[in-house]
Amino acid sequence: MSPSVKSGKSGQVSAYVVIGSQWGDEGKGKLIDAMAAKSHGVVRFQGGANAGHTLIVEGKKTVLHLIPSGILHPQVQCFIGSGVTLDPFELIKEIEGLKSNGYLKNDSQLQISDGALLVLPFHRLLDQAREACSKSTKIGTTGRGIGPSYEDRASRRALLVRDLFSDKLKDKLQRCAEEKSFLLEKLYGQEPIDVEATYKQLCEVAEKLKPFRCRDMSLQINTMIDQGKKVLFEGAQGVLLDSFHGTFPFVTSSSTTAASACGGVGVSPLKIDHVFGITKAYCTRVGEGPFPTEQSNGAGEILQREGHEFGATTGRTRRCGWLDLVALRYAIQVGGMDQLILTKIDVLSHLDSIQVCTAYKYKGEIFKNFSFIEENIPEVEPVYETFPGWKSDISGCRKFEDLPKEAQQYIAFIARETGVEIPVISVGPDREQTFYQGEIFKDFWGSAKSAQTSITP
Ligand code: GDP
Ligand code: IMO
Ligand code: MG
Repeated sequence: MSPSVKSGKSGQVSAYVVIGSQWGDEGKGKLIDAMAAKSHGVVRFQGGANAGHTLIVEGKKTVLHLIPSGILHPQVQCFIGSGVTLDPFELIKEIEGLKSNGYLKNDSQLQISDGALLVLPFHRLLDQAREACSKSTKIGTTGRGIGPSYEDRASRRALLVRDLFSDKLKDKLQRCAEEKSFLLEKLYGQEPIDVEATYKQLCEVAEKLKPFRCRDMSLQINTMIDQGKKVLFEGAQGVLLDSFHGTFPFVTSSSTTAASACGGVGVSPLKIDHVFGITKAYCTRVGEGPFPTEQSNGAGEILQREGHEFGATTGRTRRCGWLDLVALRYAIQVGGMDQLILTKIDVLSHLDSIQVCTAYKYKGEIFKNFSFIEENIPEVEPVYETFPGWKSDISGCRKFEDLPKEAQQYIAFIARETGVEIPVISVGPDREQTFYQGEIFKDFWGSAKSAQTSITP
């Protein structure tokens, strides 16, 4: 779609979805925070406090789990949509943390959909008990109760945010806790759920959440888009962790594609103008599951050390490896991306040479398409192309032409191999260490940041 043509009523380009195109931690928080400077609203549409989105502004770090990454800009309205699974206790902690650092001065800056799911303490217990049980498949979850809470939506037992304010809260809680109490006690040898104590905790947290309650989020966001206001839809996790299209069963429990932004908030797919897929210049994964280009060697250690690859939610060391273009092309296809944002290219400055996986070899045959080979991913052998390193600090570069020619070649190769434009490049963790290029950002930033040419396929 041309950047200047808009499907909504205003004739303005205004709805941008930003999602991860790998196994999470691609730098979504950083980019949303940077792009929020020119936006009116940011909305989270899926996932929960399993996410850890890192924002660095003038050297100061903020890690967000549930609150949208636009919150550091006081003029940006932040929304938590119905597709999110929300741990109310975690949210209150996050709100208090932001307030104590001088942010979120006005409660009206944050709105929580009445239809969002609740993660309750026993969801966490169940998640952790399953992971600890040697008989079940260990996924390496974040232990934040995400799977059990989404199960409750599917089985129609879940408590939603609006239930916190209902006089039926205790009855609903009782019903929701019943089976889990049985499982925790009989299957996992733990204490049964104390419904009375949980009820009391929920009543307390409900009081604190009251100012943030929103009953008409879909209407508000549709109206913003119709008025031409810029809205960013902030994804959590990444397409390869999608519950339908990811590396099942080693996935999260929500859908992480652009389509999920529409479902999770209540907007038509016809209202989305652009979908940005964020990709690191290499790959990481936390938790279990296949990872064909993983490097359990010196190169992997350099990526892990120089990229500070530790989980923002659990602190676990992230597994590291080379960029996988087979997986990336697949993520672009199922994720619905029309643009790529490339992050952490500066981390590659520490390597003599860089490898990129362009195909998989399986039983002597070459595959360029992830779907055909999906169930055999653990056994594929990556086919690599090797690029020379540049061995110089690029974190101060602010336009494509400033990058060493080896880095330019590497980026141009990714655009060519994926067939997708790369209008944003990130060369460091700080909000300012980003550059924007091409037509699409004329709309976004105005002329100041859009003078350069885009990296086209
Ligand atoms: P998210 O979950 O996608 O928001 O990503 P995380 O915050 O979990 O992980 C990304 C990490 O990389 C964070 O520590 C960011 O501060 C950092 N980061 C983001 N972009 C860049 C970049 O271009 N270069 C470097 N060196 N670090 C970056
Ligand atoms: P952000 O938004 C990286 C991974 C977990 C595990 C699997 C299932 O920061 O990119 P879950 O707790 O969701 O049931 O765990 O998904 N995972 C993430 N990995 N970044 C994330 O979020 C993740 N959220 C979940 O490590 O492998
Ligand atoms: Mg993260």
